[in-house]
Amino acid sequence: MYQRTSLGYMSCKCITPFLFLLLCSSLLLSLPGSVVEAYKNYTVGDSLGWYDNTQKPSVNYQKWVGTKNFSLGDFLFFNTDNNHSIIQTYNFTTYKECDFEDAELDDTIEWSTGDPSFTNLVPVTRAVPLTKEGITYFFSGDFDGEQCQHGQHFKINVTHGQGLPESLKSPSTVESPAPTSPDDDSIPNPDTPVSSNFNNPKESGDDKEPTSFALVIRLLDMKLHMLMMFVCAWLFF
Ligand SMILES: *[C@@H]1O[C@H](CO)[C@@H](O)[C@H](O)[C@H]1NC(C)=O
Ligand SMILES: *[C@@H]1O[C@H](CO)[C@@H](O)[C@H](O)[C@H]1NC(C)=O
Ligand SMILES: *[C@@H]1O[C@H](CO)[C@@H](O)[C@H](O)[C@H]1NC(C)=O
Ligand SMILES: *[C@@H]1O[C@H](CO)[C@@H](O)[C@H](O)[C@H]1NC(C)=O
Ligand SMILES: *[C@@H]1O[C@H](CO)[C@@H](O)[C@H](O)[C@H]1NC(C)=O
Repeated sequence: MYQRTSLGYMSCKCITPFLFLLLCSSLLLSLPGSVVEAYKNYTVGDSLGWYDNTQKPSVNYQKWVGTKNFSLGDFLFFNTDNNHSIIQTYNFTTYKECDFEDAELDDTIEWSTGDPSFTNLVPVTRAVPLTKEGITYFFSGDFDGEQCQHGQHFKINVTHGQGLPESLKSPSTVESPAPTSPDDDSIPNPDTPVSSNFNNPKESGDDKEPTSFALVIRLLDMKLHMLMMFVCAWLFF
């Protein structure tokens, strides 16, 4: 009688940590579901938008960048108007000079052309994907760099993160200066707000995987709970 009890006690001692280990690992395994949607979208300047400090005195884009972590596949959303442009460059000289007139096509992209036709000021929103690792600069190239010199500029360090999603892997997305090929479907059309092309079909496929995976985990959890109940009941009698 005593022996049986001690045996029961021993197997309990062995089984319980094992079960907890299983439960813990199943919890950890269900985490990739949240890791999958790690691509982030940032709104530049938050509610202030993308303007120079003569128009919005409180803008401070480097402060906005702060300690944010930018990775491949993230998007920067620029909310501005057609009196301000969006220039992205990998070339420090271009950035420092606030001038992209002499910039090479392979290191500078004009995402939105300022149109200083003051008669018709319209809002502009652009989604700019981060497709290259390393330091990336943004500024407004309008008025010979005047807006850039008035605080409309910032730099970020793009890290690898989880790498580019399939939707952004096509070379044309990475290299094309947007305005030169408005009918290329694989790049965001500079003349329309956020292209639906970025709603990558593969993304929805990816969404499915963690869901069914989580389902399996949940089933596994249920079974483990039943097993634990069974073990507890067995220990009781
Ligand atoms: C950015 O990444 C660093 C190092 O990976 C981390 O310590 C920090 O908390 C992150 N910052 C934010 C705002 O996520
Ligand atoms: C940066 O751009 C300037 C033109 O603005 C060019 O002369 C220079 O070679 C570029 N630097 C690099 C490293 O490509
Ligand atoms: C457009 O921007 C320039 C330079 O920042 C500024 O002087 C001008 O007032 C702006 N035009 C309008 C209509 O806001
Ligand atoms: C950018 O971030 C990477 C990864 O954190 C780091 O290794 C690299 O030194 C950074 N580059 C600069 C210029 O700060
Ligand atoms: C970020 O923006 C892109 C482009 O508009 C969109 O396809 C994607 O679903 C957005 N991602 C998140 C997490 O909101």
